[in-house]
Amino acid sequence: MFKNQVSKVLYGGDYNPEQWPRDIWDEDMRLFELAGIDIATLNVFSWALNQPDESTYNFEWLDEMMDLLHKNDIKVCLGTGTAAHPAWMAKKYPDVLTVDFEGRKKRYGRRHNSCPNSPTYRQFASKMARKLAERYKDHPALLLWHVNNEYGVQCYCDNCQEAFQDWLREKYGTLENVNQAWNTRFWGHTFYDWDQIVLPNLLSEHLSATNPNMTAFQGISLDYYRFNSDSLLDCYKLERDAIKTVIPEAIVTTNFQSNGTYKPLDYFKWAKELDIIALDLYPTNDMPMSHTAMRLDLMRGLKDGKSFMLMESCPSQLNWKAQNPLKRPGITKLWSYQALSRGADTIMYFQLRRSIGAFEKFHGALIDHAGHEHTRVFRECAELGHELQVLGDQFLGAQVESKTAILFDWDNWWAMEFSSGPTVDLNYLNEVQKYYDAFYHQNIPVDFVSVESDFSQYDVIIAPVLYMVKEGLDSKLEAYVNEGGTFVTTFFSGIVNENDLVTTGGYPGKLRKLLGIWVEEMDALFPDQLNRMKMKTERGSFKSAYECELLCDLIHSEGADIHAVYGEEFYADMPVLTSNQFGKGKAWYVGSSPDSNFLKDFAKHLCEHHHIHPILNTPENVEVSRRVKGDKAFLFLLNHNDQSVTVELKKAPYYEALNGVEVSGTVELDSKQAVILTSSI
Ligand code: GLA
Ligand code: ZN
Repeated sequence: MFKNQVSKVLYGGDYNPEQWPRDIWDEDMRLFELAGIDIATLNVFSWALNQPDESTYNFEWLDEMMDLLHKNDIKVCLGTGTAAHPAWMAKKYPDVLTVDFEGRKKRYGRRHNSCPNSPTYRQFASKMARKLAERYKDHPALLLWHVNNEYGVQCYCDNCQEAFQDWLREKYGTLENVNQAWNTRFWGHTFYDWDQIVLPNLLSEHLSATNPNMTAFQGISLDYYRFNSDSLLDCYKLERDAIKTVIPEAIVTTNFQSNGTYKPLDYFKWAKELDIIALDLYPTNDMPMSHTAMRLDLMRGLKDGKSFMLMESCPSQLNWKAQNPLKRPGITKLWSYQALSRGADTIMYFQLRRSIGAFEKFHGALIDHAGHEHTRVFRECAELGHELQVLGDQFLGAQVESKTAILFDWDNWWAMEFSSGPTVDLNYLNEVQKYYDAFYHQNIPVDFVSVESDFSQYDVIIAPVLYMVKEGLDSKLEAYVNEGGTFVTTFFSGIVNENDLVTTGGYPGKLRKLLGIWVEEMDALFPDQLNRMKMKTERGSFKSAYECELLCDLIHSEGADIHAVYGEEFYADMPVLTSNQFGKGKAWYVGSSPDSNFLKDFAKHLCEHHHIHPILNTPENVEVSRRVKGDKAFLFLLNHNDQSVTVELKKAPYYEALNGVEVSGTVELDSKQAVILTSSI
């Protein structure tokens, strides 16, 4: 991606020198060199500074800083700065201000505060991007562009409402189609004019200020999510295009938030418009490592396996949680290696120097308030910086190879959680995570794919809760299984089409033929209620083996083999786990949300069937991932335990990527230690 300009894992992060006097800048350069920093993200929140009024632009500080960074061999990831509009703009052009979910017109303040459909905002933002591109197009420090910051606002103003009506007109053509798609005869909602359609918020269709999922009209709310994601994407594209008109070969991105599982934006759709994916990853100390692993794998999946940037992470403590514990010694490095092991090609922090005032003054940084290098955090960061220098470009761009994939879909996520009934406890990410964990804990790599991906390279595809089956997906899955693939889906699947309208004739609707079952009813369990899964024994009887929860589908087989039945309730002995031979492959249906023991055994069974083997067998909490480049494999071993462990290696000469020392037989890992081993393939 960065061609010849980069020969190692880039190391750096958000840098806000505009908050500091000039003499500190030189000290920063000294400290950056000590820590091995070679990339700085600049100008992310400097709009007001760069443009003091409508017609004045002032980039002198930025010129000087870009030159200074260049002199110090530090590349620049240049922000366009449009994620917080200047106060003068809000005062003069109130259309830049948003209207919130409760219908309140906001006043100037905070950040991520601009209406995506404000003509003023769009015009000023793209003008700023163009001005920056014109000014820095030939600057030798410029490596890539960081448009805006963590897009994500949802606005309900009149401009957005009109834009929504236009978006609907474009999508549906006629009002009849809209009425049909939203099933508006329900509760007398038939629309006779486009301008009768209002945005779905607490003043209209939504029922709860605290639970944004509670809507009276799923179709409207679903389309609003799609529209809002598109509106923000249009803002991104405007700036990107402004940059690319001036610099056609520019590398442009924006940073994805909420660890990559940010619900309001369809990141698969966004990914198509980004030159490289950039992730902001802020796991809390108590987050299971499989959760971050999953999100990193999702980021790799957004662009079909391409490596991505870790754009922001925290070298020490956060500030925005209720309690913000320090990252324990070794953790920053360990977690950074985890990102690298799953496809990241950069390690970047928020922030390089901790600010002295406002919201983030207690957010961890490379340089603490102490201001010097004699801190634990700085030492740890510098140690990592030096390791990255030694590692060089060995695994830059290396691929992660996987034969199993999870199908992930934002529309499906939105629609299922907007759904009123059968249970509010259904959480898409939880269900996806459960399946992911079953593979993660056995050291089996998993890719993430979208409904548009090429399925043929995978032996196993799992679509947890595929509630929405989009046009053509059923036949795509049928073709995949027909050719020998194994497909797994779960309870509450095949229920609706892309408009959230139920496919009648028995669930799982369009997947019924593939799965060889039909579902008559769905029982929602209370939070503390369980059912049991009785597995079929070799002798043909059923024996209680696992537990399940949340939802229980009442399934009839229409040709599928029954592998397990329920143990409790009036539907005891009805199927809960089935598989259907379809052409050369098999389609599985898991009718409830099973316990982790089941999922582990199930994952094992699926992998054995396809001769998919663990990368390595490791002690518990030792994560392993593998990247491949040319004829070399890179094995990342991460010891998340508080104790040291011994890992048995497979036969093959391995070499430590850091020092070339040959390793064979076993390798010892200290608590929280990460080791990268190379081998030839
Ligand atoms: C986000 C933002 C940054 C900063 C960090 C703090 O990721 O992009 O500007 O606020 O959070 O964790
Ligand atoms: Zn708006």
